[in-house]
Amino acid sequence: MQTIIEPFRIKSVEPIRMTTREERERLLREAGYNLFNLHADDVIIDLLTDSGTAAMSAQQWSAMMQGDESYAGSPSFERFEEAVRELMPFEHVIPTHQGRAAEKILFEVAAGEDALIPNNTHFDTTRANVESQGAEAVDLVVAEGRDPKREHAFKGNIDLDRLAELLEENADRVPLVMLTLTNNSGGGQPVSMANLREAKALCDEHDVPLFFDACRFAENAYFIREREDGYAEMSIKEIVREMFSHADGMTMSAKKDALVNIGGWLALDDGTWAQEARDVLILTEGFPTYGGLAGRDLEAIAAGLRGVIREEYLEYRIASTRYLGEALTEMGVPIVRPVGGHAVYIDAKAMLPHVPPLEYPGQALAAALYEAGGIRGCEIGSVMFGRQADGSEQPADMELVRLAIPRRVYTQSHVDYVIEVIEQVNDRKDELSGFEITDEPPALRHFTAEFAPL
Ligand code: F0G
Repeated sequence: MQTIIEPFRIKSVEPIRMTTREERERLLREAGYNLFNLHADDVIIDLLTDSGTAAMSAQQWSAMMQGDESYAGSPSFERFEEAVRELMPFEHVIPTHQGRAAEKILFEVAAGEDALIPNNTHFDTTRANVESQGAEAVDLVVAEGRDPKREHAFKGNIDLDRLAELLEENADRVPLVMLTLTNNSGGGQPVSMANLREAKALCDEHDVPLFFDACRFAENAYFIREREDGYAEMSIKEIVREMFSHADGMTMSAKKDALVNIGGWLALDDGTWAQEARDVLILTEGFPTYGGLAGRDLEAIAAGLRGVIREEYLEYRIASTRYLGEALTEMGVPIVRPVGGHAVYIDAKAMLPHVPPLEYPGQALAAALYEAGGIRGCEIGSVMFGRQADGSEQPADMELVRLAIPRRVYTQSHVDYVIEVIEQVNDRKDELSGFEITDEPPALRHFTAEFAPL
């Protein structure tokens, strides 16, 4: 069959409040032109993030009723641990309230002031957690991964030559190497099995452990099956297990590929680090059999992990993101190619060449998409990265607008509507002008800054 359908029926619905263009112009003005300041009720299609926004299955909702809320020794923890270890057979599994809590604990245990942490590309919370220990976060993604137009099957790969060089010179300063699957900051691009295997071999040579930031592991496994020789006949579960056979540990935001609204974990083989991590966990998250979560959350994760590796689910998931990306490419809207797993990234610098980087073309495009159709995306460009530690302002490498697709939430007609809105905006893109920032906090300004149109 040509048509890939949503492989589920819908049992419970949430109404969408429709708004008019006039209303949206007013609402955006009142929000200081910052989409984070909008009420979610005033958004028609919310593509701000794929994190914590998934629709859960009937199996997950019913599993939640099995949640055991005992402080210690909950059977829900055992079911959670078993589901994690079925895919990622690490010795120690430590639940946390979300991904960044696992990162904070890992780097508190593993990284000192002098440490270097290589990664393909650190996600912003990962980088912030490395830096808050006084350590240095080093991004080593392959050159293809930094060029939006370049077609390449595995643009999330780490540059093995540069990793080898760094380990050759500085292995004593590297407590661990990380790989982000898929590479979110680089466009949701996958890492190949060959790259994981070779990175692990390099780490072994220098006796340095390899950790995965594994938020989107199932989407990464699906890309391996589609694109890498030798994997076409394997099940997703087999591929996932092979991926994790190359790792010594992982951090996870369950808000992505565990198909839940909150949760995460740290898993690892090293007993000494695990003990230290549990000691920190008790201080900040909770007892080791619940971490920062309720028993029912652990049940939802266990059921989510069984659902996310279903072939039909992943086929639909990757096809629905590709469907949006291919439609934009066909109408001549420049995007990061090839289309990634969880989001389509529009290249606002290429689309609005008349808006200079420090007049924020990504912000201009994101605002226009909201005014035209109530779509909320996220600027990833000079608003997010432009302000430097010394107070100066530098253009970011790329000016992107990310349209992240929540899992199992929107149907094909929602996506067709998004395509139509983008077409309208694209038709009058020459009329769009930039913004200036009128108010900004000292750090992470994209969340709360206010803007005025130029
Ligand atoms: N690592 C990656 C690659 C992520 O994409 C995220 C979150 C995290 C770690 C942190 O996990 O939110 O559970 O603490 N990404 C979200 C996003 C916020 O919109 O891309 P968390």
